[in-house]
Amino acid sequence: MNLNIALLPGDGIGPEVLAQAVKCLQAVEETFNHQFVYKEAPVGAIAIKKKGAPLPDNTLKLCKEADAVLFGAIGDPKFDNDPNAKVRPEQGLLKLRKELGLFANIRPVQAYPSLLDKSPLKKDIISGTDFVIYRELTGGIYFGEKKLNEEGTIASDLCEYSEGEISRITHLAFKAAKTRKKKLTLVDKANVLESSRLWRKVVTKIGESYPEVALDFLFVDNAAMQIILNPSQFDVILTENMFGDIISDEGSVIGGSIGLLASASVGEENALFEPIHGSYPQAAGKDIANPIASILSAAMLLEHFDLGEEALAIKKAVDKALKKGIVTPDLKPKSQYGTNQVGDFIAHNIVDIEDDFNM
Ligand code: IPM
Ligand code: MN
Repeated sequence: MNLNIALLPGDGIGPEVLAQAVKCLQAVEETFNHQFVYKEAPVGAIAIKKKGAPLPDNTLKLCKEADAVLFGAIGDPKFDNDPNAKVRPEQGLLKLRKELGLFANIRPVQAYPSLLDKSPLKKDIISGTDFVIYRELTGGIYFGEKKLNEEGTIASDLCEYSEGEISRITHLAFKAAKTRKKKLTLVDKANVLESSRLWRKVVTKIGESYPEVALDFLFVDNAAMQIILNPSQFDVILTENMFGDIISDEGSVIGGSIGLLASASVGEENALFEPIHGSYPQAAGKDIANPIASILSAAMLLEHFDLGEEALAIKKAVDKALKKGIVTPDLKPKSQYGTNQVGDFIAHNIVDIEDDFNM
């Protein structure tokens, strides 16, 4: 298969972890005879510095023309601590999601058997966890009208959803549930928010067309508790933009490191793949960042194009690294392995995968 992949390394550890994902994709090309073309462009703080905008026009154009986007990370503390900053790195990612119409963000969460003792949560609580969060990505409070009065003393962000915005992601989530454990949980705050009540109404109606999927509802505060109290009860979690942002970081505690969680953001025409973690500026350039979330995002990219065996080759190579303890210090504090070595090990095991398949 031929694929044009736009590479957006972004800020902090973004370039380092993305480079490992590219190594793995190149190993997949070699092993399975595909041709991928990679074109790189700036986004985030680095783009503000170089081009004066967090999402330069050329970057957006490249992404629109590509078959898929592979994204590193975004953010720079310089902007976080300045409430008056007019441009921010994050605006680059938000604009990209909106412009590419990436309305569904898919975030799988699982407890790896070889990492059960890495989570601060008890083994018997997290064991068997395997759920996926469907987070709405182009609506809600992130994109509603923002206001600040002239005195700078009153601010507001509008949380708005339309039936159409809710229904398109809901169908994707139900379809996913059909192929999994056939359970869908809508996470909302319908006891307080009007927008949540609309979600419940729309999702309930759509649920009638998926009778094989059991649908239930959970208020987000309770969901936040259930995710760390009894995570194996979940299969597909469907939720709006900000709740999904928050509970997916929480979910990463189950796996043992936020450096393991990958995501796919999909729309009608475009798709983008990125780790859920941020730019971790303290680690930038130190060769300590965990590249697995980025590598697994590349696996999700392959799955998106129905390259299931190729994606599996990456996942098996990741499992091997985890089992052998070839991991970065976030998973093993005194680990002698760095970002590059972990990436190399995984990439080499993709090339050698034939042995595994023939076993
Ligand atoms: C994420 C990130 C982004 C978000 C930030 C960087 C804008 O936290 O992808 O989860 O809030 O969506
Ligand atoms: Mn987030």
